[in-house]
Amino acid sequence: MRLVSKLTRPEDVTAQAVTSFDATPDVRLRTIMQSLVRHLHGFVAEVGLTEDEWAAAIRVLTATGHITDDKRQEFILWSDTLGVSMLVDALAHPLPSGATEPTILGPFYVPGSPLRPYGADIAEQEAGTPALVQGRVLGLDGAPIADAELDVWQNGDNRLYAVQDGDAADDHLRGRFRTRADGSFAFRAVRPVPYPIPDDGPVGRMLAASGRHPWRPAHIHVVVRAAGHKTLTTHIFDMDSAYLDGDTVFAVKPSLLRRFERHEAGDEGTPEGVEGPWASLALDIVLAPGEDDAGVADRGRTH
Ligand code: BEZ
Ligand code: FE
Repeated sequence: MRLVSKLTRPEDVTAQAVTSFDATPDVRLRTIMQSLVRHLHGFVAEVGLTEDEWAAAIRVLTATGHITDDKRQEFILWSDTLGVSMLVDALAHPLPSGATEPTILGPFYVPGSPLRPYGADIAEQEAGTPALVQGRVLGLDGAPIADAELDVWQNGDNRLYAVQDGDAADDHLRGRFRTRADGSFAFRAVRPVPYPIPDDGPVGRMLAASGRHPWRPAHIHVVVRAAGHKTLTTHIFDMDSAYLDGDTVFAVKPSLLRRFERHEAGDEGTPEGVEGPWASLALDIVLAPGEDDAGVADRGRTH
């Protein structure tokens, strides 16, 4: 019998790689791995990835691992700047209308912020224009939610979060607050400013090579946890900020824009010790009923 040699085609490679997962016992894992291989191979074939480009991609992934540590998470930055974080968010949270919309967690969330009393200041040192944030946490029916926990963090006017800032105390510009019986909460913060995401690594090089900027519009982060309700991870954006139309991580949702009202020292309601211009922000948050998703933001859960 004569051996007929058959050339291996690209699609034969893909078929073999997909089939290698046929016996994966966990059905969900099998679905994910086979789809991943199909899409990855489809991408490589579609762009006709060259050997040099493949080697460059391996160098990028290696650099991403090298720059990542407990304070710098370059993998999350890739996910954010490619829009994957917001896509996962959109797929994960089909919320009833009326509930406050979620957005991404970002890489600067640090669990275990100090529990602070009603009205306390999260700034432990000078950090910008004081801002008084007041509001209530409510259910979909408008009923107040008592003992909800707000876990807040933000950057200062030097553009940095405490975790990025070697000169800041660990708990600077972050804190947890509990709502009172009528669902109300209040805390002092500073008016946030736009800031660039860390762009001195592989993600920054990708943005520069693509003609993209690294900026995010001004916002305060909040995770809200309450018994019998879905945990909400979101931002409150300053509606007068730059970059609302060009957030480099696609996290702006129109329903999350709020106005920071400007005040002068001596105006009614001037917080104690404030001697210059300040801002106020009214913020009601509506939670959907349900169970915690036990998502990444629940790592900081303390009750
Ligand atoms: C943030 O909002 O803290 C953030 C989100 C995505 C990338 C970098 C920072
Ligand atoms: Fe942020």
